[in-house]
Amino acid sequence: MRHLLSAADLDHTTAVHILDTAAEMAKTQSREIKKLPTLRGRTVVNLFFEDSTRTRISFEAAAKRLSADVINFSAKGSSVSKGESLKDTALTLQAMGADAVVVRHQASGAPHRLANAGWLEAAVLNAGDGTHQHPTQALLDSFTVRRHLRGTDVEPDGVGSDLAGLHVAIVGDVLHSRVARSNVDLLTTLGARVTLVAPPTLVPVGAETWPCEVSYHLDEVVDAGPDAVMMLRVQRERMGGGGGATSFFPSPLEYTRQYGLDARRLARLPEHAIVMHPGPMNRGLEISADAADSPRAVIVEQVANGVAVRMAVLYLLLAGEREKA
Ligand code: CP
Repeated sequence: MRHLLSAADLDHTTAVHILDTAAEMAKTQSREIKKLPTLRGRTVVNLFFEDSTRTRISFEAAAKRLSADVINFSAKGSSVSKGESLKDTALTLQAMGADAVVVRHQASGAPHRLANAGWLEAAVLNAGDGTHQHPTQALLDSFTVRRHLRGTDVEPDGVGSDLAGLHVAIVGDVLHSRVARSNVDLLTTLGARVTLVAPPTLVPVGAETWPCEVSYHLDEVVDAGPDAVMMLRVQRERMGGGGGATSFFPSPLEYTRQYGLDARRLARLPEHAIVMHPGPMNRGLEISADAADSPRAVIVEQVANGVAVRMAVLYLLLAGEREKA
């Protein structure tokens, strides 16, 4: 593995290996060994053209816990706002000796361009591009599902190391969601059954060819007894109209009534089912406060697992097996 650009690039063996490596990283963190010397002398650049809380901070924490030097670059306040191109930004990072570039960009495909244009020798990690992909989010989501529904003592590469036989419902604004696309790719590679649930206007054209089922009826899917329900953020900022409702979107009240996860729907899920959300949440829109704060919600754990998963991918790309790619 030279770069991490898309969850679709991960085969079953590689995906399980990353999850197993993340499990090892999580063990070191729970033993209070906060820092490993693995990436001493390496430089990780966080190159964020779009806002982020969880992904940016957890990549920074992950790199620091592996003893890398970290440079945080935000497009706001940089020469990008003076019109500097992606190419010139990349050449600047190359001149500064970046070993890894973690990039979030509003344009789908920007990380692929950075990785393949020959501007950088660094490993490129996609931290979310447009509506396209968010592979480390999918990895931390699969890691979280595996921990909860398979147990923490999974033998590396052994029985229970993947998600075969589990059913995950992904609910909400699929149209604008790189999290949904990445999760469909990775969850199905790991053997899970996936059902997308959304209003017809928030299902992407072509989703019927994806390796999952599509439903317009959340209540039917809840009653089918999924093992995990992953709620998606309604991305009003990608719908135009200055963040207000558009023709994509039923009224907020109607959306919540038909597609929101509330205490009533939560109570109908199987006892073991977990509730997930990648964050940031629109409380009261796609998820009620009592669902978000219920003991079955693993939303804060998803954030914590993000550090272990990002430690694993940085380790594998920079210290582990780059030469084998
Ligand atoms: N889940 C996620 O990508 O969150 P941030 O936008 O805060 O990074």
